[in-house]
Amino acid sequence: MNHLGILTLNPDPTNPFYSGIGKESLSYPICLHLFSPEDLSPFTEGIEGYTYCRESGVWKEDAFRIPEYLYDRTYYQAGKQQQAKAVVQWLKQQPHVTFLGYGLPNKWVLYEELQKGPLAPYLPGTRLLKEVEDLTAFLNREEEAIIKPVDGAHGFGIYHLRTNGPSIIVRTTKKDGILSHTFHNRDEFKRFTLRLMKKHTFLIQRRLENQVQDRPYDLRIHMAKDQNGNWQEYHRAFRYGHPEGILTNVSSGAEYVPYDEWKAAHPAPPWAVMEEELKEILSILPLELEERFSPLLELGIDITIGADHSIWLLDINSKPGHKLMQTGGIDSSELSRIPLDHCMNLSSQSAPTRSDH
Ligand SMILES: Nc1ncnc2c1ncn2[C@@H]1O[C@H](COP(=O)(O)OP(=O)(O)O)[C@@H](O)[C@H]1O
Ligand SMILES: [Mg+2]
Repeated sequence: MNHLGILTLNPDPTNPFYSGIGKESLSYPICLHLFSPEDLSPFTEGIEGYTYCRESGVWKEDAFRIPEYLYDRTYYQAGKQQQAKAVVQWLKQQPHVTFLGYGLPNKWVLYEELQKGPLAPYLPGTRLLKEVEDLTAFLNREEEAIIKPVDGAHGFGIYHLRTNGPSIIVRTTKKDGILSHTFHNRDEFKRFTLRLMKKHTFLIQRRLENQVQDRPYDLRIHMAKDQNGNWQEYHRAFRYGHPEGILTNVSSGAEYVPYDEWKAAHPAPPWAVMEEELKEILSILPLELEERFSPLLELGIDITIGADHSIWLLDINSKPGHKLMQTGGIDSSELSRIPLDHCMNLSSQSAPTRSDH
C-alpha cells in the first residue's frame, strides 16, 4: 500500500475535490491522507489530520506519520503563512518523501530562467521594481504599466498605472470592485510606491492589449501528466473579466467561456495559425520547466492574446485551480485520478526492479 498525503492549508473533509480523490483512491493501492503542514509536529514528525477510510468511504480524524508521497495543494497569500511554507520546504528536503510535483519558483526567477530558452519570444518583457525611479522611468516611456508581486496569485496585488499628463492614475481590484486613485503630485506617487515596495517585491510589465469590448480576457490551459507520465492538455477555456477590469482570474469574478464558444463568437482572429503556434509552445513548455526547475505534475497556463493576435505566456501556475475545468464539464473523476495515477507511476519507478536472469 502506498501512502499519499494531500497537503493543504485548509484540510476540510467536506471539500468535494478531496472526497473525489478519496472515492477514486478505492481502486488504487493507495491509502490517502489529508492534512495541513501546520499540523505536523516538528518534534515527533507526527501529523494530526484525516485518513480516507476505505471501508466507509469517508474521511476520519487520524494521527499518522509523514506519508511517502505528497500532493501539494497549499496556496499562500503573498508574504503570508511563512510557517506553513517553511514546513513544506522542509518536507521537500526529506529523502523519504516524494512530492508529486515540486512547484515552480516565483514569477521573477521563472521569467529569468525561461528567458534563456526557446520560449523567450513569448514572455512579456518583465523587470524587477528595485527603485521607485524604475517605475517612473517606465511610465514616462510607456505611459501604462502593470505591477504585480513576484509571489502573487489569484490576481492579488496587481496594479494598473497610467499617466495622464503630469498625473498618474493607479487602479487595483478590491472585493467590491475597482479602486482608483489619481496622483497629481509625483512625490505623493513616489511615497505610495515606496509603501507598496515595503510590503512586497514587485515586477513591472507593460499592459498587454488583452481587452475585448473593454473587458480583459485570456486563455487558460490546464496540462497534467497522464497515466504514462506524459504531458497532456486536459482543458482550455477563456476567462472574461469585468468591464474596465484589470484581472481575468476566475477568483476575481471573471466569467468562464468554453473554448469553442469563444471562437465562434470571435471569428476574426486567425485561429488555425494561433492554434499551431500554441501547440508548439505547449509541446516545449512543461519539459522546459522540468528541465530548468524540478519535476511537476500539473500546470495552469495563462495565455494572453494581444490585439494583433500575438500570443504571450503571461503566468504559469503549478497548482492550478480545478473550478474552471469542473464548470467546463471535465469529468471530476478524471481530475481526481491525476494525482493517483502519478503516485502509482512514481512508486513503480522507485520499486526495486526484479532481475529476470
Ligand atoms: N502585463 C499585463 N497586461 C495585462 N493584463 C495583465 C498583465 N499582468 C497581469 N494581468 C492581468 O492580471 C491577471 C493576474 O496576473 P497574473 O500574472 O496571471 O498573476 P496571478 O494570476 O498569479 O495573480 C492576469 O490574468 C491578467 O488578466
Ligand atoms: Mg494568473
